Amino acid sequence: MRFHELRAQYLDYKEEINFAVQHVFDSCEFIMGKEVFDFENELAQYLNCKNVISCGSGTDALLLALMAIDIKPGDEIITTPFTFIATAEVICLLGATPVFVDIQQDSYNIDVSKIEEKITLKTRAIIPVSLFGQPADMDEINALAVEYGARLGNKIYVIEDAAQSLGALYKGKKSANLSDMGCMSFFPSKPLGCYGDGGAIAVKDDNLAEKIKSLRVHGQTKRYYHQYIGFNCRLDTIQAAILRVKLKYFDEELKRRSRIATYYHDSLFNCNVILPTIKSDRTSVYAQYSIRSRDRDQVIDFLRKTSIPVAVHYSKPLHLQACFRYLNYREGDMPVAEKISNEIFSIPMSAFITESQQNDVVNSIRKISATVCQDERIN
Ligand SMILES: Cc1ncc(COP(=O)(O)O)c(C=O)c1O
Repeated sequence: MRFHELRAQYLDYKEEINFAVQHVFDSCEFIMGKEVFDFENELAQYLNCKNVISCGSGTDALLLALMAIDIKPGDEIITTPFTFIATAEVICLLGATPVFVDIQQDSYNIDVSKIEEKITLKTRAIIPVSLFGQPADMDEINALAVEYGARLGNKIYVIEDAAQSLGALYKGKKSANLSDMGCMSFFPSKPLGCYGDGGAIAVKDDNLAEKIKSLRVHGQTKRYYHQYIGFNCRLDTIQAAILRVKLKYFDEELKRRSRIATYYHDSLFNCNVILPTIKSDRTSVYAQYSIRSRDRDQVIDFLRKTSIPVAVHYSKPLHLQACFRYLNYREGDMPVAEKISNEIFSIPMSAFITESQQNDVVNSIRKISATVCQDERIN
């Protein structure tokens, strides 16, 4: 069994994907070919968003979003410490400072009630991450940004890191289109993945959208005329062609992921592990199906021995990473993120894992929880 079963997915779409890629080879439009713009339009339609700009990766998407609003040294960006490094890395690449806010114990997303105390005159943006596929509390975050932006006389942007949550619904609206900008990743193992690196940004404001289009091609507004300092972060035409095929089947895949999550939930609810909590006004696309155990390491050991692939997202919160030592955070500063990172692990999730594979996962967890996790309940 593989953690994501990418091969099974490829075999299912093989003919269409090979045809689409061959078409790009035949056209020789490798850079910014027609497929790139077709994919952007189709994704914009999917999100019900006016502007979608593709780019080289989810990391590029975050960087472009911050560059578009002129983030510079001295600026502060509020975000979560319980995420993939890219979310905070891009802030530092522009010389700005990530300001970490602890997470909620149930959703693992940023704790809105703790954001306010971190807003200062230097706050330029908030980057909530819709972790593991479940949107963060976007309405509350947007409202805080508007309120404090007006009070401080400086717009505070909300940039959703939707790298893991494309396809999720929040009060009936699509993740990535819930705030000023939403950044997506098409890394192969993401719910909508390509066959290399890829990303996109959904943008509400037309002027920002134009600027981002220019930033992704060296800040160029017309050939060899450079309005901004940009860089090269275009989505390859080949990747766009692959994504166009996969987007057609994306909602069907999400339904299958959701059915697997329900099966896991129903089968594991009494196994002394903490299962994901999805709030009632939103859905998750289960980029990861992550569960918790106080005996995480023993459980993982056993699962691996029984050939069940497991991963840990994430074993060390960002405020304690060596690269952020200069920010002077200490152990204990983000107690919830620290506790969760000691207990969490992810089990196989993809639209392509078979029923028998799902059974194997469940049976192995049942077996190990009957021994190591016996008299334990974790809160
Ligand atoms: C939350 C989050 N943000 C950003 C990224 C970066 O995306 P990419 O790998 O496409 O650069 C990822 C990818 O794993 C992610 O999970």
